[in-house]
Amino acid sequence: MPDRVRVFAPATASNLGPGFDVLGLALERPGDVVEAEACDRPGVEIVEVTGADSLNTNPRENVVGIAAAAALERLPADGRGVRLWLHKQMPLGSGLGSSAASSVGGAVAVNALFGGALSSDDLVACALRGEAAASGTAHADNVAPSVLGGIVLIRSSDPLDLIRLPVPDTLRVVLVHPHARVLTAEARRRVAERSFSIGQAVANLGNVAALVTALHRGDLAMLGRSIQDALVEPIRAPLVPAFAEVKRAALDAGALGCSISGSGPSVLAFAGSDAAADAVAEAMQAAFTAAGLGSDRYVGPVNRAGAGVVGAKPIPTDRLGALDRALESNRPTSGADS
Ligand code: HSE
Repeated sequence: MPDRVRVFAPATASNLGPGFDVLGLALERPGDVVEAEACDRPGVEIVEVTGADSLNTNPRENVVGIAAAAALERLPADGRGVRLWLHKQMPLGSGLGSSAASSVGGAVAVNALFGGALSSDDLVACALRGEAAASGTAHADNVAPSVLGGIVLIRSSDPLDLIRLPVPDTLRVVLVHPHARVLTAEARRRVAERSFSIGQAVANLGNVAALVTALHRGDLAMLGRSIQDALVEPIRAPLVPAFAEVKRAALDAGALGCSISGSGPSVLAFAGSDAAADAVAEAMQAAFTAAGLGSDRYVGPVNRAGAGVVGAKPIPTDRLGALDRALESNRPTSGADS
């Protein structure tokens, strides 16, 4: 068994339009890096958090510690414990599944240190403990794709029933993160306190079913017209600066579909080629700029590998570009169960 491991856990986009809490996908980047070391003292210690000044190192409060402790409970650690280093590589409150990535990183790292016996469902369950602490509910649409990779349907969170969906080869994801912050717990409260009509529910049922069918058929046009959300997007759109303009810009530039990523403020769009995705990202960023907001873009295919151990080569964490280069030579050696 290794004494020290380094894990990459990808960011995720959830909901995918109509699938509130039931659909999510993994991104190639960004993602969090968790380093873990076995030690003789039982329990979990967080040695350092880099990249996020507001996060503390109390293992009962930081999601990486909560998820790591959940994994440690389920593994034959023989009274040993773990020391963790969390390198945040994405903004908090961004709609990119930041708390999920840290949680997954903690669970996957501990599993890798202590024999790797946990299944991907076990890892999702452990990471859900962290996610629940961060957002108030154990919704799996970020942690499941971060563990498994690909596009995941959460048929049920309790008991867990996760379904991996096919990913069309040419599908490209465009994520644009405006420099603003939305607290997931607050965004969820806004949804929870509303009631919905049967007509709204029917609209989303049709779109989720069509979206899943489109992925199975590789029908990108059907996928695009399924990215419609009658339930949550109208409630949360006011939380995303210039959302209407950014969505219009994405669709005018050729996006297949566009909606809020998770609880926002990042905006998700789909495209059918690299060139189309770049054009869509350009247009979305221009719309944010016109509204006076800086933004970052993440464009690429769906990450099919999910979280995993990356090579022994130290990963510089000072700059995202440096991290990307290091990860190129440190791709996860296996998927969720590594
Ligand atoms: N499905 C969740 C929500 C994702 O929309 O609140 C939060 O990241």
